[in-house]
Amino acid sequence: MNKKMIPSMDEWLKEAKAHESAEKIGMYLTHNGIVRKSAKAKVRFGEENTKNVTGMQFSYDQEKVDAVIHFAGLKAVGESVAKPLMYYQNNLISTLNLIELMEKYGCNNLVFSSSATVYGDPISVPIYETFDLKVTNPYGRTKLMLEDILRDYAKVNEGKNIALLRYFNPIGAHPSGLIGEDPNGIPNNLVPYITQTAIGKRKALGVFGNDYDTIDGTGVRDYVHVCDLAYGHVLALDKLFSDCGLVVYNLGTGNGYSVLQVHAAMEKACGFPIPYEIKERRPGDIATCYASCEKAYKELGFEAKYDIDAMCRDAWNWQKNNPNGFKK
Ligand code: UD1
Repeated sequence: MNKKMIPSMDEWLKEAKAHESAEKIGMYLTHNGIVRKSAKAKVRFGEENTKNVTGMQFSYDQEKVDAVIHFAGLKAVGESVAKPLMYYQNNLISTLNLIELMEKYGCNNLVFSSSATVYGDPISVPIYETFDLKVTNPYGRTKLMLEDILRDYAKVNEGKNIALLRYFNPIGAHPSGLIGEDPNGIPNNLVPYITQTAIGKRKALGVFGNDYDTIDGTGVRDYVHVCDLAYGHVLALDKLFSDCGLVVYNLGTGNGYSVLQVHAAMEKACGFPIPYEIKERRPGDIATCYASCEKAYKELGFEAKYDIDAMCRDAWNWQKNNPNGFKK
């Protein structure tokens, strides 16, 4: 694909907004070689703040909404410790507004982005959906509170279908290299920190602790490709349309990789060494966290297709194509 043909995300959104249906958006996307087959369903693109009920109401007035996938939320652990009210305000209020509106417009199906953070420091791995829920920071608490709110709501409202999807560590990017992760400021999460180091924006990756009880002393996580995760949502929607009530699924790969293993996989993807230095443990981190995805496999047919090399390849491809992220 010719790099000059690649629009920035801003341009893409502007263009997408100018079209009224996904058919047209699909043509636009295909024209640029981004995503094919996106034109099947008619989808209107609207942009509203979930804290602005009036705006959302207007969006809902336009057409019947069969299901909602609610991804909007703040997600940085450290920031949530520093600014708890911002997290409670943003994550809780916006979700309550959304549920209220869904209620008003008779929409019964919701996919909610939860997180492995609701398991806190698990007693063992792999982590099953039945494990105790306990959280260690305000971000995690907003996710657990929202899960509880949705459980209470579903209990007394027959006919509501809700999928709580507990994401493990989503990484990677769309294989086209056009949609990727562009965190504001210094990245909190591992993979954008590594790719920004590889592109020369950061001096060296700081590895937070090498004295954990793991394969090489560094933290182990269940990294899952964003495209696998996205597909998990499609499967969850199918499940909701079968009138399943409230369901909970882990979405990961079921495999754990250490920080140094991810770093090595990224060096392989880039083809050159990426500097790193060992630092103190990060407060609040746990040694090992990976999912059992048996339930999602049995009940949804979910199975992650991308391995760690593919995740790093796509993350690097995006960073390489977009050295300054979505900014020009
Ligand atoms: C955290 C949240 C998780 C959330 C995810 C994505 C908790 C306990 N975890 O996951 O719920 O879904 O963010 O927002 O609430 N690391 C380094 N150097 C870095 C950055 C990270 O060594 O510069 C290490 C960490 O110590 C950890 C691993 O890399 O072992 C992954 O860290 P990170 O990407 O921040 O994700 P989590 O903390 O696992």
